[in-house]
Amino acid sequence: MERLQKVIADAGVTSRRKAEDLIINGKVRVNGEVVKTLGVKVSGNDIVEVNGVMLQNEKVKKYYLLNKPRGVISSAHDEKNRPTVVQYIDTDARIYPVGRLDYDTTGLIILTNDGELANILAHPRNKIPKTYIAKIEGLLNKDDIERLKSGIMIDGRKVAVEDFKIRDKDFDKKTSLVEVTIVEGRNHIVKKMFESLKHPVIRLSRIKIAFLEIGKLKSGQYRELTIKEIKKLYSLK
Ligand code: URA
Repeated sequence: MERLQKVIADAGVTSRRKAEDLIINGKVRVNGEVVKTLGVKVSGNDIVEVNGVMLQNEKVKKYYLLNKPRGVISSAHDEKNRPTVVQYIDTDARIYPVGRLDYDTTGLIILTNDGELANILAHPRNKIPKTYIAKIEGLLNKDDIERLKSGIMIDGRKVAVEDFKIRDKDFDKKTSLVEVTIVEGRNHIVKKMFESLKHPVIRLSRIKIAFLEIGKLKSGQYRELTIKEIKKLYSLK
């Protein structure tokens, strides 16, 4: 038996904290009955519904690392019928992506049906580093680099840059290739950072999530995470 809010969080619906709010607000049913008090425990035989949708508590947990191609949406379904990251993975498990990469961003994304791990990786408190390579317009000057390193304000909050390198400069085309590591998960955050420096991103790719690197994965290829890697990701909590 496990606490209802843990079961909801483990199914990847939301965090444990927000699951508690859902319960208190009468959005959760157990075996058809609304449960509004915290502390209720349920087993795998109980039917749990959140906002009228039944939880799928799959026993077998699956974990994949995909090198997402450009022109693919980072969700399980798309209303406009565009290709999704989930369609790249050959599995029957109800996996979904952890976090998002923009439609035109390439690179690493984790997919899993393990809500608990998904929550660990997505929670800002755990400060999971992610490294991107961005091709940007223009050449950065000292001032830009200073601003990057001291943290750029985006929508009223500073983005802490953990690491930053200029990989290449093209003086003819006036473009640069930069590598940046951040622990942020806000949408379009890298593009917004460089936009605010007046060096818009032309191309963006994520090459690292925590200790997971792109390695030999070509665009559109994926692999399963090893037990060792899964344990190591859990330890980042
Ligand atoms: N930052 C962005 O701007 N886009 C992404 O896809 C990921 C991080």
